[in-house]
Amino acid sequence: MRQVKIFDTTLRDGEQSPGCSMNLNEKIEIARQLETLGVDVIEAGFAVSSPGDFESVKTVADTLKNCTVASLSRATESDIDTAYNAVKGAVSPRIHLFLATSAVHMQYKLRMTPEEVLERASAATAYAKRLCSDVEFSAEDATRSDREFLARVIRAAIAAGATTVNIPDTVGYTTPAEMSALIAFIMERVDNIDRATISLHCHDDLGMAVANSLAGVAAGAGQVECTVNGIGERAGNASLEEIVMALRTRRDFYQAETRIDTTQIYHTSRLLSNIIGQSIPNNKAIVGKNAFAHESGIHQHGVLAEKSTYEIMTPESIGIPSNSMVLGKHSGRHAFENRLAELGYRFPKEDLDAFFAKFKELADRKKELTDGDLEAIVNNRMYVENLYELKTFAMTTGIGTRASCAVSLERGGELVEEVSLGDGPIDAAYKAIDKITGVANSILEHYTIHSTSDGMDALGEVVVKLRNGDRVTTGRGLSTDVIESSILAYLNAVNKLLA
Ligand code: KIV
Ligand code: ZN
Repeated sequence: MRQVKIFDTTLRDGEQSPGCSMNLNEKIEIARQLETLGVDVIEAGFAVSSPGDFESVKTVADTLKNCTVASLSRATESDIDTAYNAVKGAVSPRIHLFLATSAVHMQYKLRMTPEEVLERASAATAYAKRLCSDVEFSAEDATRSDREFLARVIRAAIAAGATTVNIPDTVGYTTPAEMSALIAFIMERVDNIDRATISLHCHDDLGMAVANSLAGVAAGAGQVECTVNGIGERAGNASLEEIVMALRTRRDFYQAETRIDTTQIYHTSRLLSNIIGQSIPNNKAIVGKNAFAHESGIHQHGVLAEKSTYEIMTPESIGIPSNSMVLGKHSGRHAFENRLAELGYRFPKEDLDAFFAKFKELADRKKELTDGDLEAIVNNRMYVENLYELKTFAMTTGIGTRASCAVSLERGGELVEEVSLGDGPIDAAYKAIDKITGVANSILEHYTIHSTSDGMDALGEVVVKLRNGDRVTTGRGLSTDVIESSILAYLNAVNKLLA
């Protein structure tokens, strides 16, 4: 079996896409989970892009012990210095350089001739290599580049010290057959290719990112770049869970394996979805709610008789808990903690204290709490110190009258109250909060509400995204009262903005 490395770029290509931004603590939590999942390389960010990105790449690099941590870098000395400074504390640091090689990118974006690009690729790789032994070179837009020129650039990068050469399908343009042929061509034409690992980085604009990545692996690539849930620029990147499970389920065909602990896939996917507030489509391969649900009678009959009639992999293999359990107000701390652990969550004692208190509060208002409810409780962890706490709210609403809401918040032991009118009760409540907290220039970019379980007494979870200039924060709120959930979610996003 060949070993294929999984290079996860959820925190870089994934995080830079709209609606997927995370704060430092959220990134650390995802990075830790990716390490538990067993990825070989984590691209923690693009260190030069902002002081915040530098800080998060550095913190991830300093924290993780069992995987390589990379920072993206343009092919300039100052970018490379910044990338190296961010990752140098890692047990295994990597500098990931990129430079475009397609005619359209060289002419219009870089305004460089092919010979200048060749020279820059070589010089930048050599410069990075003097700082860090592990250098990856990416030929951006490789799949739309002239093949002979691409081969020259790759040969030059390897000669200058690159140990991984990446072939990005930057705009999601290629097809599986073309990708396969391109990798075969590179393996044949680049005479020093045996000194480097070939990597793939596919985008999903035509829905072929996973198929293209797998075709590249079958042709001989040794690393795949991907993201959890396939998040990423535009239509996203190749999805980690789909690639890993395809390699595992079709081991017979690919003759390749990864280091991934597949039983961590489900939890990793849920964790990311909850942190960025982006739900997973029900029909998403591997991790969607319906991925293992058999609805038709014929299928159900088949599966009951023999699972493999309609099931090519088991839910357990990706870590979906095999049993479901409901807890209630008489359930103790032990049962609560146990169930969270079965769902993949482990927290320090202080966090568990807070979650258990919330559990008790909700169990008083709702008879039975399901796995979905428990997950919602832990999803509401704050990641920041709360500047404002909700104390009370009261509202009036109806037909033929404008909604109004009075909200009182506590800040540092002091109560502050405001009243506002609005186009509906939630608008009124949010305006009252804006008056108190002074974040009036923010834009509510996204608001969703869903129930975390079935039944009339279900908990309502609200997720909001709030933009203030360049910053977007995600807030969550959970209650049996959906207006309260809405207020808590907004306040959570405001607290994150103010943190
Ligand atoms: O899509 C792309 O080309 C990239 C490179 C920077 C690797 O993300
Ligand atoms: Zn990309």
